[in-house]
Amino acid sequence: TQSIIIDTDPGQDDAVAILLALASPEVRVLGITTVAGNVPLGLTTRNARVVCELAGRPDVAVHAGCDRPMARDLVTAEHVHGNTGLDGADLPDPTMPVADGHAVDFIIDTLRAEPERSVILCPLGPLTNIATAISRAPDIAGRIQRIVLMGGAYFQVGNITPTAEFNIYVDPEAAKVVFASGVPLTVLPLDVTHKALTTRARNDAFRAAGRVGPAVAGWTGFFERFDMAKYGSEGAPLHDPCVIAWVLRPDLFTGREINVEIEVESPLTRGMTVADWWGVTDRAANALFIGDLDADGYYALLTERIARL
Ligand code: BDR
Ligand code: CA
Repeated sequence: TQSIIIDTDPGQDDAVAILLALASPEVRVLGITTVAGNVPLGLTTRNARVVCELAGRPDVAVHAGCDRPMARDLVTAEHVHGNTGLDGADLPDPTMPVADGHAVDFIIDTLRAEPERSVILCPLGPLTNIATAISRAPDIAGRIQRIVLMGGAYFQVGNITPTAEFNIYVDPEAAKVVFASGVPLTVLPLDVTHKALTTRARNDAFRAAGRVGPAVAGWTGFFERFDMAKYGSEGAPLHDPCVIAWVLRPDLFTGREINVEIEVESPLTRGMTVADWWGVTDRAANALFIGDLDADGYYALLTERIARL
């Protein structure tokens, strides 16, 4: 089994990603670390525990992390995710405790304790916790097997500004640390997540997927209603589960090993992922940048795994 740490700011799509991981025997979730992003840290930490309890896994360690970006004020996205960050399903408040210890310490300590290059980090939000851990303990970079993250956009326009995707925009300094870290990276940008649309038929399949299916359909239906108006497409992108799906089934995705740099200076293009897709520079590749997926295969995987819970 593959050991992973999920770093997250739930978020409906983060929640589906957590469920996919907890339902999949191929991965062992060593812990979940929370970060401020879609909503403030108190709510993302609450929401991660709501999701663990929904999955019947109150034993999972949920560590609270950074409550603001490395060098900027926090920007949140209640306009997308609702005031709780997890609107769309009516679930009880969590009773499981928040685990002792800051998320950044948990990440550092776990990477030092586990066998070298055995752990994949799966960030689903701003990269604040990951970059803080690497900056504070540079020795861990060489111990990480890979970082598989949702963030960025290149051929697809941005979703928080015309040129930036939300996760990278919120903490571009953190993203810069991660992209310069030398750790093998897989990037799931908007280019691929906007090909993973929750249509009405796919949402209906979620609703019928066992005990937790109705909650999942509530979340993705909430998301969809919003985005129908915004994008004019049938269904909204289901971003974050792409990260876990890539770990489970990389054969569902295609991309290129390319150079990706992060814009941190310009107010106009803050957080842009400048991706050298055509190889027009001599900058060395630092990421596997995913561009396409088998969307039917992705939704079939999600539905089948959610039904197991
Ligand atoms: C990303 O931003 C958040 O709103 C989602 O959870 C996802 O991680 C998409 O840009
Ligand atoms: Ca997220």
